[in-house]
Amino acid sequence: MHTIHITLKQKWALLAFLVVGITMLHYSTEQSSYYFRVFYSELYFLPIVLAAFWFGLRGALSASITISAFYLPFIFWHWQGFSAADLDSILSLFLYNGLALLTGALKDRETASRKTMIEAGSLAVMGRSLAAAAHDMRSPLILIGGFARRILKKMDESDPACQKLNCIIQETEKMERMTADMLDFSKPLNLKLTKGNMDTIIRSSLAKVRELSKRKNVSVTYHPSPEAPDIKFDTMRFEQVLVNLIQNAIEASPEGGSVTVTIPFSSPTNLILDVADNGSGIPLAKRQQVFDPFFTTKKEGTGLGLPIVKKIVDAHGWSLEILDNGSGGTLFRMNLTEDNTSDHLHN
Ligand SMILES: Nc1ncnc2c1ncn2[C@@H]1O[C@H](COP(=O)(O)OP(=O)(O)O)[C@@H](O)[C@H]1O
Ligand SMILES: [Mg+2]
Repeated sequence: MHTIHITLKQKWALLAFLVVGITMLHYSTEQSSYYFRVFYSELYFLPIVLAAFWFGLRGALSASITISAFYLPFIFWHWQGFSAADLDSILSLFLYNGLALLTGALKDRETASRKTMIEAGSLAVMGRSLAAAAHDMRSPLILIGGFARRILKKMDESDPACQKLNCIIQETEKMERMTADMLDFSKPLNLKLTKGNMDTIIRSSLAKVRELSKRKNVSVTYHPSPEAPDIKFDTMRFEQVLVNLIQNAIEASPEGGSVTVTIPFSSPTNLILDVADNGSGIPLAKRQQVFDPFFTTKKEGTGLGLPIVKKIVDAHGWSLEILDNGSGGTLFRMNLTEDNTSDHLHN
């Protein structure tokens, strides 16, 4: 399909040409040729509608005001003392500006609603269809995995088909994880906030990534901070955040690398938690993109880890930023604030 692309300059040039051209036609017509005058004054609608279409309300009003300014001297020049033609001309002036207001406002409203529709609508639709697909995929996956495990148990270990069956089991496990991620990502969170201990939750998260860190030969070091206050969080969700960040850090680390979890700052109502690695880092240009759903650079990745992390962090009213760790690796810095900090200040 061919679309004609008109540049901004060309649009302005065409509008100026139309306005000036039609004005010149006006000024060069004989006073007697009333029908020409009517026809030419109707021609002015063209640039107004075009300006509204291209530039919205502001563009349309600039066009109609310019036209009025050009047209006004012409009306006075041909003034006959409130003749039918004079009244017609005055009416035209109102029509130009009225039309500009109407079409411009309509165009602006259409632009705005299209923008919100694309932003909110498609995200909501995407979320809902994702949840539906994930939900429907789950039961068959659990069935497949379950059957495969049962068959494997009954099989002789020397059977070459064992390997293939193991492959099926691993792949279904991966897909089960993926559907769980998809459900997490698309469902509302409904946080259950309770006051919890930082040290406890960090240690339980570390326990969950131990297996992976051993397999990848990456050491994970945690520097506890005795001053870290208890803060309100959803235990399960917060653990999910920590596990995701530490897991990503381990996966980004080279063989024999190290990941550190530290609390570089804490006050009674606020604390900073860092997860750092000495992997290859995330370039500045990609730091927004890694939070996009399905963005992944890993063969086995789902690209849903960080979007879920972001969603949980936002729901708590915390913030998360990506920094350099100083030696090329990545540092995920979370700023955890007690939700009622401001209440404390006011009371
Ligand atoms: N610590 C890190 N160091 C380097 N890159 C990272 C790190 N954490 C995340 N990334 C990048 O962000 C992408 C998205 O991460 P994530 O949403 O957790 O999905 P996944 O881990 O499934 O790829 C990763 O594929 C990786 O490219
Ligand atoms: Mg991940």
